[in-house]
Amino acid sequence: MSDECELIVLRYDTPSLERLRSNSFGYVSANGRPLVDLLDPQPGERVLDLGCGTGVMTAEIALRGAEVLGIDGSPAMIEKALAQHPGIDFIVGDGHDFTVVQAYDAVFSNAALHWMSRDPGTVIANVREALAPGGRFVAEMGGAGNCAELTAAMLTAWREYGLREPDLPWYFPTPAEYAQRLEREGFVVRLLEYFDRTTPLDECPGGAADWVRMYAASVLDGLPPDIVDPLLRRVNELAAPALRRESGWMADYVRLRFAAVRR
Ligand SMILES: C[S@@+](CC[C@H](N)C(=O)[O-])C[C@H]1O[C@@H](n2cnc3c(N)ncnc32)[C@H](O)[C@@H]1O
Repeated sequence: MSDECELIVLRYDTPSLERLRSNSFGYVSANGRPLVDLLDPQPGERVLDLGCGTGVMTAEIALRGAEVLGIDGSPAMIEKALAQHPGIDFIVGDGHDFTVVQAYDAVFSNAALHWMSRDPGTVIANVREALAPGGRFVAEMGGAGNCAELTAAMLTAWREYGLREPDLPWYFPTPAEYAQRLEREGFVVRLLEYFDRTTPLDECPGGAADWVRMYAASVLDGLPPDIVDPLLRRVNELAAPALRRESGWMADYVRLRFAAVRR
């Protein structure tokens, strides 16, 4: 994949950077900006954005003058990223299985590492190999207890309907566990934060049920179609006492944010 990467990657040119600026592609959510600040990308630095999605954060990093490559496992995401951010390099790649030809100064990742749940140690090892010695790994992901109320409601509803416990697709480590993994894979942890971020589910007017359909769709695979609606209505009933406010539904997000340096 790395050879392909070098073939596909185009260097920045000034007009494309200007186009980015003029199109205001530098918008990042209020939640994302502090992470880019923590990364503190410098002009000319080589930064890899792992699990870049549609490239919103990648574009913010590019705006700060870094030479950035976005990698994501979803071809559909990469297609959107390329369409929305002309002039930035994006490529399809899996966090469990990527290599680079030329080392990066930093690897950045927002809201993506918890999806790379098959083998988190391999993902960290791949990040290490992508970095030059002294390179930074700056990321935010779901931490232990993330979506605990949402998932408890799911598990109870599944049980009540006599269904096998769903395989949840995420990896939400404790700070101690992730720090240990980072150290084991050759990083020095310079900062590690673990905090609640209760977040309005603005994009889920149907509450927890919508959230399951949007973020945990794989757990619905293979269920009898006629069971899905009542099952998710039950998820809503169970989750409502903890997560439904007068202002709308909230998600009980818990985040792990860290900055580590390759030894
Ligand atoms: C919640 S999105 C975050 C996107 C982006 N970082 C942002 O902050 O807007 C998570 C992304 O991780 C990607 N992803 C999940 N598993 C992956 C894997 N194994 N390798 C690479 N990307 C992956 C998904 O395709 C998705 O685009």
